Amino acid sequence: MTRNVLMDCDPGIDDAIAITELIANQDDLNILGITTVGGNQTLDYVTNNAKKLMSFFDKKIDVASGCDKPLVKDLYTAGEIHGETGMDGYDFGNDYQNYPLASANAIEFMKQKIDSVEQLEIIATAPLTNVALLFKTYPEVINKINHLYIMGGSLEQGNITAAAEFNFFVDPDAAKIVFDAGIPITMSGLHMTEDKAYFTTEDIEELKNHGRVGEMCYALMNFYHNAEKQVGVTKSPMHDICAVASFLKPELFTGKTYSVAIITDDNLRGMSLADKRLQPEVKNQVNVLMDAKREEFRDFLYESINKLN
Ligand code: RIB
Ligand code: CA
Repeated sequence: MTRNVLMDCDPGIDDAIAITELIANQDDLNILGITTVGGNQTLDYVTNNAKKLMSFFDKKIDVASGCDKPLVKDLYTAGEIHGETGMDGYDFGNDYQNYPLASANAIEFMKQKIDSVEQLEIIATAPLTNVALLFKTYPEVINKINHLYIMGGSLEQGNITAAAEFNFFVDPDAAKIVFDAGIPITMSGLHMTEDKAYFTTEDIEELKNHGRVGEMCYALMNFYHNAEKQVGVTKSPMHDICAVASFLKPELFTGKTYSVAIITDDNLRGMSLADKRLQPEVKNQVNVLMDAKREEFRDFLYESINKLN
């Protein structure tokens, strides 16, 4: 059965690799569109980056731009990891400038796409501002969303503060709205993406051997890897690729079900806590991914890239 899917992202180098894997496996998918949100870089950059990827793949997938800043907080970006453009490392040329933007209002765009199908799934690899605003603006869409595959949060370490992961730190209010919406969620948090779903230097070098698409992925990942090494990280976590891989091939992961609470007050903003009390306050039942079959996860990306060459 064809699966209807929307992807909300902030490309972003790992978002770009995640989009690559999704597009490579679209035979049984109806990709309704890609929406962008301010995060890794400002909205103009991340939207241009989505258009660069669609031009590179010569795919006619609708791109719509969404919120340029979080619901309440100021925007906090991650240029030190993803570069000045938000997707440094590879020259995509200027053809993307002719790629038409389907809409400059991702909320309306998502609502129209959702109205056109019976049911769908959403993959979210960025601050959840667009998704939260969609739910608040059009709560009737919630019942049509079968599952959310989210990269964000952590049961242990943070990467922006000791407590918080970037996507949930940037917009904790949006994360809380989404986690309280009652939709089944599969969560790829840092405790899994950093510790279990990483690429080594050798894994990244291997990308070069996978044609034109592999060379593009290598160039982006090499930039990301070198930026991460500057802050002492030698195994590059494939954060957003986990959200797509858990959507496409869930058997690559094992998860545990928890009620997950999102902290929005300032001192621990963006922290995601598994509420293990017998009667947890928050009633969501999130499939929190805990482990990954790392080599199979890595090889699935190589196999996906090969399909696009
Ligand atoms: O913390 C990792 C997340 O923040 C990823 O989605 C990455 O792209 C950045 O947005
Ligand atoms: Ca991202």
